[in-house]
Amino acid sequence: MSKPTYYITTPIYYPSNKLHIGHSYTTVAADAMARYKRLRGYDVMFLTGTDEHGQKIERRAQEEGVSPQAFVDNIVDWIKELWKTMDITYDKFIRTTDAEHKETVQKIFKTLYDKGDIYKSEYEGKYCTPCETFFTEHQLVDGKCPDCGRAVESVKEQSYFFKLSAYQERLIKHIEENPEVIQPQTRQNEMLNNFLRPGLEDLCVSRTSFKWGVPVEFDPGHVVYVWIDALSNYISALGYLQNNDEAFKKYWPADVHLVGKEIVRFHTIIWPALLMALDLPLPKQIFGHGWLVINGGKMSKSVGNVVDPSILVDRYSSDAIRYFLLREIAFGQDGNFTNEALISRINSDLANDLGNLTSRTVAMIEKYFEGGVLPSEHEGNEFDADIKALVAAQIQKAEDNTEKLFFNNALEDIWVIIRRLNKYIDETMPWVLAKDEANKAKLAGVLYTLAEGLRIVSVMIEPFMPQTPEKIWAQFGIERGALTAWDSIHTWGTLPKNITAIKGENMFPRIDKEKELEALEKTSGAAAGTKEESKEAAKEEPKEVKEPEYITIDDFAKVELKIGEVIASERVPKSDKLLVSQIKIGNETRQIVSGIAKYYAPEEFVGKKVVVVTNLKPVKLRGILSEGMVLCAADENDKLVAVGPLADITSGSIVR
Ligand code: MSP
Repeated sequence: MSKPTYYITTPIYYPSNKLHIGHSYTTVAADAMARYKRLRGYDVMFLTGTDEHGQKIERRAQEEGVSPQAFVDNIVDWIKELWKTMDITYDKFIRTTDAEHKETVQKIFKTLYDKGDIYKSEYEGKYCTPCETFFTEHQLVDGKCPDCGRAVESVKEQSYFFKLSAYQERLIKHIEENPEVIQPQTRQNEMLNNFLRPGLEDLCVSRTSFKWGVPVEFDPGHVVYVWIDALSNYISALGYLQNNDEAFKKYWPADVHLVGKEIVRFHTIIWPALLMALDLPLPKQIFGHGWLVINGGKMSKSVGNVVDPSILVDRYSSDAIRYFLLREIAFGQDGNFTNEALISRINSDLANDLGNLTSRTVAMIEKYFEGGVLPSEHEGNEFDADIKALVAAQIQKAEDNTEKLFFNNALEDIWVIIRRLNKYIDETMPWVLAKDEANKAKLAGVLYTLAEGLRIVSVMIEPFMPQTPEKIWAQFGIERGALTAWDSIHTWGTLPKNITAIKGENMFPRIDKEKELEALEKTSGAAAGTKEESKEAAKEEPKEVKEPEYITIDDFAKVELKIGEVIASERVPKSDKLLVSQIKIGNETRQIVSGIAKYYAPEEFVGKKVVVVTNLKPVKLRGILSEGMVLCAADENDKLVAVGPLADITSGSIVR
């Protein structure tokens, strides 16, 4: 019987600069999933690559005084090298400068032109070159690009257009009928409410003002718009419209396109519309993950806070960096990067939890049993049943979470086992059992439970940290095969009873945080949130400790706080931050504008009970009257959560 197939993709990267640690998140996440599926018996196609055309690349090459091709070749080599050091097991690396890809793009363009889905007209509007995106005047925010905030350029040229507007209804229907297609759910709401329902305009799909792109075959003065070129990679890589389209027939439609949250729009609107126009099946899922941020802001070269992943891999190992990335970015949210957070995770989760469990188990078997060989006679104890049940439950949870691409949860599920096993050592106290020869079988039983638990853990971490399992297996004389197969973890007791322990290298030596942070400051490219910021922080540090400024109960009583219920909410036009909500407070309804649009979709906010400041002087925000304020909690990354009552209580209740 042939294996089931699984097709996963990353976005293709712009080789305009070297990639930073944030970019590597998408690829590491896709690699973890590809490895997991392979272990589960799938025939996997994992695609990644580079998006090499467009005005941005053309300009970067000009700045460097080289041809665009030479410019991209250089960076693409570096990217491939990076993926090698990060143990990325892609099955195909596509470059949009590949001849086969260009041929497919030209054929797609011609097919759509012949069908009438692409037509010629004149484009007049704004273009953001860094984002390679067209905008209408009303989409701009303060005249700037709504995505990156940079200046846009005026563009007026003869262009081809794709009839995107014709697909609006079908796209809405598709998303409504397949609620799992855009993940996480909030991104689906965002697409429907902010883009699809307000209406789609036809999309300009060719440019004449620069040359670095795929020429329109029947009108060579035009090059194909870079996003049409780029999105097509997901099918050109499989041979679509090429002589050999076996892979296309086998793997399409994709099981998941894994993308960063800012490009969900291209993947859930333009891409499916193109596929509809080509009469092709649509991808099963688009998963929009959050960003790795530095102090709440996106990493970028212009801000100067980019971190070079190859430096980190060199210093801490690929497994440690992969673990950190996958553990730190929670489902649907951003994860913060600081050198300090990275070192803390390595020390606590890898050195303390996993490293110690392994070294203690191996050391005890070596110490208490002749030649480090466990005897075949084992006796159980009162904690064993709990361990077995916990391991079985955690395997199930980790599998479910991995299937959903909730990697941080899956890793946490595995670490629950690791921490439980460390606790088991304290509960069973092998060093006490070892004092009495009569307890040998009991001691062997304890150490076996630890070794078997570790074997299961080692198999479970393989998709995420591919080098560490081998190091654990070597210490128990395990070879890759039946004992390391995924299915084997479902049967407790698969490990032979008389295993041999052999002390191995320290997998994750503890890092001296202070010294390491100092060393990192001196390493350019790895200085996230270190020197400059600590200098800044030092400047602001107050010289003497001041008494806190207390307020009296009378001061507090001046603020009138009441429970309100959100009965309607919508986005403030042209603002990505503001929601305007109608809030019922007892018998009255107030209109309140809040800066929480990034954290709550309007329909998600409706029905919530919140705490409202009701005696705040009304103000107009973006011309909209706001009669009060919804209280929110803000964390250090400025993530906002609205504050509400812990149990249900009628709206209008006073908060005091
Ligand atoms: N070329 C387009 C994609 C075309 S796909 C048909 C592109 N390239 S990119 O190089 O700018 O970004 C590639 C991926 O890296 C995106 O998914 C983006 O979200 C991701 N990341 C870039 N910076 C990131 C972080 N700081 N954190 C997490 N992911 C980030 O967009």
